[in-house]
Amino acid sequence: MSGATEGASLRYVAVAKRYGPLTALHPVDLSIASGEFFAMIGPSGSGKTTLLGITAGFVTPSQGQVLVNGRDIVGEPPHRRAVGMVFQNYSLFPHMTVAENVGFPLRMRRVKRAEIAARVQAALAMVRMGQMGDRLPAQLSGGQQQRVALARAAVYRPALLLMDEPLGALDKNLREEMQDEIRRLQRELGATVVYVTHDQQEAATLADRVAILRNGRVEQVGPPHEIYEMPANRFVASFLGEANLLPLEATQGERARTAGGLELAVATSDAASGPEPTLCLRPENVRLGEAAAGLGNAWTATVLEAVHIAGSIRYRLQLPGGTVLLARAPARIGDPVWQAGATVVAGWRPADAVILLA
Ligand SMILES: Nc1ncnc2c1ncn2[C@@H]1O[C@H](COP(=O)(O)OP(=O)(O)O)[C@@H](O)[C@H]1O
Ligand SMILES: [Mg+2]
Repeated sequence: MSGATEGASLRYVAVAKRYGPLTALHPVDLSIASGEFFAMIGPSGSGKTTLLGITAGFVTPSQGQVLVNGRDIVGEPPHRRAVGMVFQNYSLFPHMTVAENVGFPLRMRRVKRAEIAARVQAALAMVRMGQMGDRLPAQLSGGQQQRVALARAAVYRPALLLMDEPLGALDKNLREEMQDEIRRLQRELGATVVYVTHDQQEAATLADRVAILRNGRVEQVGPPHEIYEMPANRFVASFLGEANLLPLEATQGERARTAGGLELAVATSDAASGPEPTLCLRPENVRLGEAAAGLGNAWTATVLEAVHIAGSIRYRLQLPGGTVLLARAPARIGDPVWQAGATVVAGWRPADAVILLA
């Protein structure tokens, strides 16, 4: 498979979907650039599959436009769209060989036999399944089946590749390996990718930008690190990574008081008032021991729990007044470790926390 496709640009204009009284998707406006890797994440039922189905043509929107390279494709049947689709459950045809599965979209498009054979072989090589063309899906592992599904979606070089939790059925190691494959495949193809997952880590690993959905609404869109550092609200903050969310009772200038009775120093730029202001502090921004001295916010805390997880230690701490705080510290050899029951000074710089207003 030589040469990259020009990825399609994709734009949703007030796209919504209602099923009788249920609104699966409130009007969505989103623009995805040519060649972008765009992830949609959100809890089950938040509308991810609905939006993908509207894009692929399986679901008819109640209103709105789906512009691919500026042209509205609503109403066009799925097979007329230059869209490749990968599902969680592989959805390979069980009675067809691997090669026949991958060639299926080309046969649907009436491509000549000899060309089909060559393109199938190239697509299989691309997912490192070049030797497996004669097997039946039942003779493959889950990871191999998903490679075949990827090859099938990529074989006609779609300008737009849609994936709905494609790695959801695989175990963790295989998932990480396949993430690398998918990213490589996208670079080789040049396609624009819209990738649905409920795994925030996967989204952050793969995507240039992420949209977070909840109850059929897009809560925030942006590069993963930006959403992580500046979440729009409490839901987003707790959905993407771990966060300490401390409700604030009052803020005034650079001072704030939490509902738990802690008097805090906060960054002035953050000290705005909202209906329910909340301090959002990521666990890795909590410093412990000597590193916490003189930080503007520092308390003597009791360690409730210390858990070693792959290179870092996750602490659950109790601050004066009962507030429970999560902290995460790298577990370097020689660094101090505080065990449950110990006391430790925990602190953070005002600038390392943000105040959320919703
Ligand atoms: N064909 C359908 N008929 C009725 N309700 C549906 C249909 N498809 C999806 N829904 C509802 O729309 C909402 C969004 O579903 P979906 O897009 O599948 O969510 P997600 O993929 O984020 O888990 C859910 O409440 C779901 O029950
Ligand atoms: Mg879904």
